Amino acid sequence: MKIGILTSGGDCPGLNAVIRGAVLKGIKIHGQEFVGFRDGWRGVVEGDIMDLPRQSVRGISKQGGTILGTSRTNPFDGGGPEVIKAHMDRLGIEAIIAIGGEGTLAAAKRLTDVGLKIVGVPKTVDNDLDATDYTFGFDTAVQIATEAIDRLRTTGESHHRCMIAEVMGRHVGWIALHAGMASGAHAILIPEQKVSIEQIAEWVLDAHERGRAPLVVVAEGFVPEHLESPHSERGLDTFGRPRLGGIGDQLSSQLEERTGIETRATILGHIQRGGVPTAYDRVLATRLGMAAIDSVVDGHWGTMVALSGTNIVHVPFEAALGNLKTVPQSRYDEASILFG
Ligand code: F6P
Repeated sequence: MKIGILTSGGDCPGLNAVIRGAVLKGIKIHGQEFVGFRDGWRGVVEGDIMDLPRQSVRGISKQGGTILGTSRTNPFDGGGPEVIKAHMDRLGIEAIIAIGGEGTLAAAKRLTDVGLKIVGVPKTVDNDLDATDYTFGFDTAVQIATEAIDRLRTTGESHHRCMIAEVMGRHVGWIALHAGMASGAHAILIPEQKVSIEQIAEWVLDAHERGRAPLVVVAEGFVPEHLESPHSERGLDTFGRPRLGGIGDQLSSQLEERTGIETRATILGHIQRGGVPTAYDRVLATRLGMAAIDSVVDGHWGTMVALSGTNIVHVPFEAALGNLKTVPQSRYDEASILFG
């Protein structure tokens, strides 16, 4: 059986480990053959593939990015099931392993509903997909953010400044919550929780009065109490979603004005998605890739592999779609005991 693999949407540390896990298990255990679609769904709708023999995945689980390339192409734009089926038949590809986030899995579901053989592997650095406890890449992003915030803290302490670290997290604040807790932030601001500037300033002043350099960690999707939507001044992405980023700078001037403490903001941005995955993410991603092969062998089309506790399970696409995995109130309340 020949299987096509694609990586779609924003890249994420661990994508290559998924590919390696799937290819090695498929070749070694089932004698399968693999190709990669270049740049996500673009490669599928254009029939643009590369061979994935065993040697092509040698040593790649520690590599950041994706050897296949990625894009935010929608397979229904200029493609659709007929075009994709025709390419698959011509290239002798029977099944697809789609590694991607909500948009990718939603498209995969629509294609599976009309008869294409697709299984999914959930991918999101934000950790916002439902039906899986954690996604690979999240641990790496938290590690990178924590290291960066630790560095901001020492420069903040030297200058007696308030430092703001802006991290990724479009709809959910998992990266901010974990990196903020790990680095001992005096305030963590996430999209799920509206907080007033007055409250943030109070936390900053509390920390300052104890002789600390106040440290604020804010997710890019955070919306202060007096606003309606996240800060965005960079236009739209290819999915028509506002490009986020910049809330840290906005808070910086507002907090400096209110507290009188010199304040600096740093946007960590794509640094959080680049470079080598942590050992945890390599292991999780490898296991997910191998489990995706089991789904293919068992013909579990329309399902994705997922982490439940420490086990890898198989769940229908629907389970992951529709609901975001937000930070529960209890987790925020727990973290906020440490604010100020
Ligand atoms: O969905 C993951 C994510 O990293 C978000 O946190 C962020 O808003 C977005 O991707 C950035 O995407 P792009 O790579 O298109 O700038």
